[in-house]
Amino acid sequence: MSVTAIKGMNDVLPGVVETWQFLEQSARDVFGLYGFSEIRTPIAEKTELFCRSIGETTDIVEKEMYTFSDKSENSLTLRPEGTAPVMRSFIQNRLHNLDPVSKLYYMGPMFRYERPQKGRYRQFHQIGVEVVGVEDAKIDAQVLAMLHQYFVRIEIDSVSLQINSLGCPECRPGYRQELINYLESRLDSLCGECQRRYQTNPLRVLDCKAQGCQAATVDAPSVLDHLCSPCRDHFAQVKNYLEALHIPFEVNARMVRGLDYYVRTTFELVTDQLGSQNAVAAGGRYDGLVESLGGPALPGIGFAIGLERLVLMKGEQRITAASPQLFIAALGKEAADRAFILMSQLQAAGVRTEMDYMGKSLKAQMRRANKFNAAFTLILGEEELQSGRAQLKDMSDSSQSSVVLDTLVATLTKKFG
Ligand code: HAM
Repeated sequence: MSVTAIKGMNDVLPGVVETWQFLEQSARDVFGLYGFSEIRTPIAEKTELFCRSIGETTDIVEKEMYTFSDKSENSLTLRPEGTAPVMRSFIQNRLHNLDPVSKLYYMGPMFRYERPQKGRYRQFHQIGVEVVGVEDAKIDAQVLAMLHQYFVRIEIDSVSLQINSLGCPECRPGYRQELINYLESRLDSLCGECQRRYQTNPLRVLDCKAQGCQAATVDAPSVLDHLCSPCRDHFAQVKNYLEALHIPFEVNARMVRGLDYYVRTTFELVTDQLGSQNAVAAGGRYDGLVESLGGPALPGIGFAIGLERLVLMKGEQRITAASPQLFIAALGKEAADRAFILMSQLQAAGVRTEMDYMGKSLKAQMRRANKFNAAFTLILGEEELQSGRAQLKDMSDSSQSSVVLDTLVATLTKKFG
């Protein structure tokens, strides 16, 4: 029996990979405009990094990490997300010494041992950004404006932005306790999972999909009613800036995030096109994270986009690979050899060129040129080799022009610019 891929980890094949490349390149283009630079971190980190940042009682750390010991008995984890590794690198490389504001982006695979389904995988890919060093609400709005602009660029408009504020270490504990008290009085209505976690991670109960939990929390206290005045002001400014930039959003006071490092602004970009995996991007502020990982007390904010979910949404609007500009059909060994040299010269000169390698009939070669959707074809046979000229056929209107083989490379390089 042949060996297959690991469940929940997928190949990206030609035909679809072009969509990935388009989405990745668009991110580079848009993020570059906003002054972001790329950062690349290793795929594995010390396990401790994720426990300390994402939080011991989160689903990710409790159940979903790919954790293993290496041969020296170090506990390592395949990164389940990008923020913690980027902050680890930021601190280790003292990036704050280079500039008071760091704007970074990354893209690559992440790993979570979740139950695979449409839009949810065990290896998935994120395009993420992080800004370290700015507390001002302008940066929250700027990051959201950039996310919005990215979706304009990739032409996906069936998404909506939901925002919330989760408060800070000043005001959240009071809210948390009030929520615990509220949940305690309705414990019987909660699912087993929420009964277990309502004390350790009460905010997650608001996010639980179980009907009983949803019904029991309809009147739960709202985090927005418990913000301290600096958090309230900050959130009001974020909303004002978003309005000034004409970025549509909804406030969703029940939105909590699955990672513990968030404070103040949090957000999700959601769609109704992907069933239950409705978040195509998500993020927020993590002002205490850098300090808690041993770095300077600098605020941070960022988001990550789920690339597979974007690819699913692009669906029909598939991006196709650029087709060849020229297909050379050759008849006989001598012509095939000449075609091969011409093709190689043209490719080196930047002209996308294809030929047949199998010694097929002219008819079969022309079928292949059509399949490739080649812009032009050139037929090389004995006669053409002798006369040193051949007919270049424009496949869009079947018009033909005579070209000299010895100057073909120069002629076509000029033609295709
Ligand atoms: P997250 O909400 O865990 O946040 O993930 C961000 C996005 O990654 C999700 O909205 C979703 O599109 C995608 N995603 C997550 N898990 C899966 C999965 N199993 N399969 C497919 N796609 C998935 C974070 O990871 C934070 N680090 C985001 C952030 C950056 N916050 C601040 N900076």
